[in-house]
Amino acid sequence: MYVCLCKGVNDRAIRDAVEEGARSWREVRERTGCATQCGKCAGTGKGIMREAISEE
Ligand code: FES
Repeated sequence: MYVCLCKGVNDRAIRDAVEEGARSWREVRERTGCATQCGKCAGTGKGIMREAISEE
């Protein structure tokens, strides 16, 4: 599912960033580009990041 329409980032990309070691929202943003334009997707993106971290 697309999380960020501006940058075309899906939930898989966020999960992959966490699997590759991202542990903060800043790192996930830097790696995926999520929420670097309009920012509307930040809440959803953070939620997926937290879920992915808690599953590790
Ligand atoms: Fe993600 Fe706009 S939808 S920055």
